[in-house]
Amino acid sequence: MSHYLPPIEQFPRLNQGACYFDSAATCLAPEPVLQQWLQFYREYHASVHRSSHAASREATAQLEQARSDIGQFIGADAHNLCLPASTTIALNMLAEQLPIAWQAGDEIVLSVAEHHANLLPWQRLAKRYQLRLRWLELDRHSGELADDWQQLFNPRTKLLAVTAASNVTGALLPLPELCTAAHAVGALAVVDAAQAAAHVRFNVHSIGCDALVFSAHKCYGVTGAAALYMQPQLWPQMQPWLLGGGMVAQVSREQAQWVDAIQRFEAGTPDSAAIVTFAAALQWLEQQQQAGLHDYLAQLRQQLLHGLQQRQWLKVLPSGAAATPLVSFYSDTIHAYDLAVWLDSVDIAVRAGSHCAQPLLQHFGVESVVRVSLGAYNTAQQIQHLLSQLDQAHALLI
Ligand code: ALA
Repeated sequence: MSHYLPPIEQFPRLNQGACYFDSAATCLAPEPVLQQWLQFYREYHASVHRSSHAASREATAQLEQARSDIGQFIGADAHNLCLPASTTIALNMLAEQLPIAWQAGDEIVLSVAEHHANLLPWQRLAKRYQLRLRWLELDRHSGELADDWQQLFNPRTKLLAVTAASNVTGALLPLPELCTAAHAVGALAVVDAAQAAAHVRFNVHSIGCDALVFSAHKCYGVTGAAALYMQPQLWPQMQPWLLGGGMVAQVSREQAQWVDAIQRFEAGTPDSAAIVTFAAALQWLEQQQQAGLHDYLAQLRQQLLHGLQQRQWLKVLPSGAAATPLVSFYSDTIHAYDLAVWLDSVDIAVRAGSHCAQPLLQHFGVESVVRVSLGAYNTAQQIQHLLSQLDQAHALLI
């Protein structure tokens, strides 16, 4: 048994007995992390990398320290870490910036579990250059990566763009093996780690990826900041997609030269407060992991899974053996939205729908599912409460 004590007092809005089960969409931010955000605005707020006055110098120092701390969290050097506003923006940037000389017929390998953010930018690229999208399938019964995945990689493969974990089933994909297979055929490997970063300790070198991205707000930070690692041989070959202030060395009437640093991909004023808070959130998360958060959430997930499986009227989407702490389920008789509305009426927050992963739901032959995703503030009692409210919904809505 894990001895982790959920720090519920750090999340005042939960004091009234509310149950928040939507951490895979956005984690609640704990008070100490929010204090960091407020402190930045109160004490250091100023434009970074531009003005020479003391406040701007301090804000710049804080931002760059955060870059270094966030990089350390994934084993990346600060020089290779770009700080865009979201995972979605980062993936769109990569699609437009990767130094690949696309030829018609080239292939991109994606998984069927991709969030739309890691699908639509590649779909657009595929239409533009007549590329072929190839699919890593999940087994419909086990939820695991289907066995024959290695056959997808061939000399036409130019890119692997894959999620670290499904945002619908939680299934974790074998990143080192996938990246090795991509590199073996000369392809680049991009990892969308947004769903997994709060639960799996990543090191970009052991994964062997060329780029990896994750968001602050799914790691107990605030919205407006993400981290995009790009390996040191890669990004110097890339042309920035977003142009503007803060990323140029020299500009004349006709031309411009970019700075010789990762900041060339950060045109415009960044959300410095969100970035500084991101580093504080990761530090908070590390402390929780040291206190046993990972095993605690795995136990809660088992309790939830067991409770759902005992209810014959519910069907659980399979995740395989290794998964993030979430479960998705549906009923043939009560619509997922009706279940979510019922739960919301008793202050239980879940997400229902296709979860921006429509190809995965099509793969499983369902239109919408209820997703319960767990965070550091959830408890065994809350899961029991959720299960008994599902029973009530079943008794009343059927
Ligand atoms: N990607 C987020 C989710 O899965 C929004 O809910």
